[in-house]
Amino acid sequence: MPNATPTCDIGFIGAGVMGKNLMLNLADNGYKVAAFDLDNDKLEALLAQDSLERGDQPPRITACSSYTELLSRLSAPHLIILSVPAGKPVDDVCHKLIDAGIQADDIVVDTGNSLWTDTVAREKAYEGQCIFFSTAVSGGEVGARFGPSLMPSGDPYAWTRIKPVWEAIAAKVDPETGKPIESFEPGKPVTKGEPCAAYIGPGGSGHYVKMVHNGIEYADMQMICETYQVMRDLLDMSPHDIAQVFQQWNQGVLNSYLIDISAQVLATSDPDSGQPLVDIILDKAGQKGTGLWTAVSSLQLGSPAPSIAEAVYARAISSLKTERVKASTILAGPDKPRLTPEQKADTVQALHDALYCAKICVYAQGFHLMKTAADEHGWSLNFSEIARIWRAGCIIRAIFLQSINDAYQRNDALTNLLLDPFFSKQVSIYQQNWRKAVAKATESGIPVAALSSALSYYDAYRTAVLPANLLQGQRDFFGAHMFERTDQARGKKFHVEWNQPGRPIVKMN
Ligand code: 6PG
Repeated sequence: MPNATPTCDIGFIGAGVMGKNLMLNLADNGYKVAAFDLDNDKLEALLAQDSLERGDQPPRITACSSYTELLSRLSAPHLIILSVPAGKPVDDVCHKLIDAGIQADDIVVDTGNSLWTDTVAREKAYEGQCIFFSTAVSGGEVGARFGPSLMPSGDPYAWTRIKPVWEAIAAKVDPETGKPIESFEPGKPVTKGEPCAAYIGPGGSGHYVKMVHNGIEYADMQMICETYQVMRDLLDMSPHDIAQVFQQWNQGVLNSYLIDISAQVLATSDPDSGQPLVDIILDKAGQKGTGLWTAVSSLQLGSPAPSIAEAVYARAISSLKTERVKASTILAGPDKPRLTPEQKADTVQALHDALYCAKICVYAQGFHLMKTAADEHGWSLNFSEIARIWRAGCIIRAIFLQSINDAYQRNDALTNLLLDPFFSKQVSIYQQNWRKAVAKATESGIPVAALSSALSYYDAYRTAVLPANLLQGQRDFFGAHMFERTDQARGKKFHVEWNQPGRPIVKMN
């Protein structure tokens, strides 16, 4: 139907889990959506859901049978949102839209988990054919349906066009309390509060920030899993008992979506066997790559994010299931210590404090990485805004994002979150228990790579003199790589003639 009347506000391509829920969210907020998907079953499911939710109201979503029909359903300049898998499918859809006749002032918004450098390349590649804009979305399917956290970036004109749409569908926060205002009822979107959507910067920066969000997500999840393993394997606690501990933790400084869902997973039983479901889930973690991208970027930029990297490695080692099962019969560990009920209770408290301190370090690593990337790429990222839009809707939403927001409001040029007076005090109060938890786990042979790497990060960052002096000596010894001296001006290089008698020191510049 190429010449349909333009009755829709937004074109939407991709009716998968995220796309379908974003479309229903748009519809709840009064937008008429023209939808297209290569898979007709997905479109039918979308229409059925719309019909179920809208009751006797007229249809809010129009299914289109081609890209051409989709364009004809919209007034120019067109606004088209993509929710397709990252990578080649994004370009495939863009080419189809170009073939169908989109124009230079039409806006195409990619909402997938795209690699940020692909976004930069696409902005350039489609210049003159459309305005390629990006918006990274966090919140999973429920977030997409009832309020995600949105990280848009790219052309400022496109932002003015999409801003009211994103602000309408985004998660909302009560400005007084900093807590999410939630509604999970179809047709009743939250219309008050601060929207968790803010313009991040030029093309690619939004996807970069989302990538770091996911890196933090990986580390946060892994650290929660490590505290679970210590409770399970050292303290012999049942999933049900651990769920209760997590529920308790969720009432305090650790209050977060990830702690909440961990408690719910642990409290769930397998309907067939009645066993705790978590005991039946295979311990092999999957990944789609965003945590890995974050770790790679941190290595490339020299901005340390060891706990994020450890979280990626933890998934990798978990996937070596067959090898681990074999190794478990060969490789020795320490004997399991016997703990009194009092010692067990102390260990649970130590794990709580360890998770809190390590979490602060992970955010410190993530924000430091974003700062380094911003300096490198000339983005002026607003870190208090980033913390602000992560307070609700996204997977890492947590009570203490308000404290991060406050920290960057106090000082937007903060070098490292750990140096903020609030956070440095928190870590100094709880660090002893953090050390105790890591030591206990290590003594007992339980891997806590993310919790302990965060501790090493903290200790390294607060150490004025690291052993890199010896390392520079080693490098100079075998490779004449030279070193600077503490008693000379920075920048002057020296080398030792290690093989000559008396090992004379040569000034190199
Ligand atoms: C989100 C999530 C979402 C997704 C990731 C993680 O913010 O909504 O991060 O983007 O769950 O892709 O996936 P993996 O754990 O499979 O890498």
